[in-house]
Amino acid sequence: MITVDTKEENKECLQEYASLMVDAGSTLSKIQAGEKEYSDSLGWFDTKEWTDDAHLSHIEEIASKVRQSCDAFVLIGVGGSNNAARSVIEALPQKDAPKIIYAGNTLSPNAMHAMLEQLEGKDFAIDCIAKNFETLEPGASFRVLRKVLKERYGDKAKDRIIATGTPGSSLEKLCTEQGYTFLAFPEDVGGRYTAMTNVGLLPMAVAGIDIRSLVKGAADMQKLLQSTAGADNPAYRYACMRNIYYRHGYRVELLSSFEPQLRYFYKWWTQLFAESEGKNDRGLFPACCEFSEDLHSMGQFIQDGTPVMFETFLTVKDGQEHLVLEPDGVDDGFAYLDGKDFKDINEIDYEATIGAHSRKIPCMHIEIDALDAYHFGQLFYFYQYACYISAKILGVNPFDQPGVEDYKQRLFNALGK
Ligand code: PA5
Repeated sequence: MITVDTKEENKECLQEYASLMVDAGSTLSKIQAGEKEYSDSLGWFDTKEWTDDAHLSHIEEIASKVRQSCDAFVLIGVGGSNNAARSVIEALPQKDAPKIIYAGNTLSPNAMHAMLEQLEGKDFAIDCIAKNFETLEPGASFRVLRKVLKERYGDKAKDRIIATGTPGSSLEKLCTEQGYTFLAFPEDVGGRYTAMTNVGLLPMAVAGIDIRSLVKGAADMQKLLQSTAGADNPAYRYACMRNIYYRHGYRVELLSSFEPQLRYFYKWWTQLFAESEGKNDRGLFPACCEFSEDLHSMGQFIQDGTPVMFETFLTVKDGQEHLVLEPDGVDDGFAYLDGKDFKDINEIDYEATIGAHSRKIPCMHIEIDALDAYHFGQLFYFYQYACYISAKILGVNPFDQPGVEDYKQRLFNALGK
């Protein structure tokens, strides 16, 4: 499960927290009861929709065919069409799985060539994931990769092409005409909320992730958040705290962890909050730190720079491996580490860091029990739910992204679309 703690040091904020908890209580009750307001974007809210056995078996069947015939699998997609799957796949690499390669998230020709080089000599399949199939990056990469497949496999190329798009879209039409496998991108789920749908689950299943465990984690989290009132509800507590800090003038939330395995999860989390809350001249800027490495760079600013941020530490309770530092007979000045385990040293570093940082800025602590598929499911659902509440308290629509759409339009115009 997930626990959310606030440090005692943040006394002033904590008093205000109590009153906001009461004021915003109706926000949580409305969400728990099921809102009409955003019903066209809440397809992710009830996990039952995605945990159905027949549905999961269908995904596993497609994934198994890919696994049998491929050394590599290209996930073509950007933002919400990429980040959830990538965060789990890169955190939990599985043996005997095809190598997952990412495309459709760049317009750099150098990066495109590097991606294509990774496919040389490999049997591969692709999944083009795009909600409206207008986004330039995935559209352009899809075309490049279709051509490579056609040159390599001729008419059989179609058996290696999957697309995940909105039913009725031009992408579905293309799949029908060309004989590609088509999976539905749910119309009522925005990209950044799609971790538990076909969008996230198929690439994860190809990579050998236990998707049943992942959706179970999400479903258990849904149960907890839907049945817990007020301050005992961890998502609500977190959402209230970040709004209190915002009202106190903090403008950045820093998500910090001592697990480099979470590197791509940061991207997912950043997108979730940036696109959901950064609008109408409001919102916290989401940023991430990978400790202990970033303690030797960003740590300076956090400790002594402009106090614009509060920090949320994300830690993992169990399941870390052990590695003991044995003495090697050389007097290297590190004798104080003899017999100590990296696991303990990493934990001590966390304690030292939160102790130091909380003297300067407000700090919170979120802990999960382990880093596995089940807990990724919990994390996805927890943050999606918390983001939904938090954006509502902030007074913005959690489910649109007008700024991103504006960027896309300007690019289309510049390219003469
Ligand atoms: O969350 C969102 O809706 C966006 O970030 C999209 O995921 C991103 O822009 C990609 O869009 P599409 O899947 O339509 O290509």
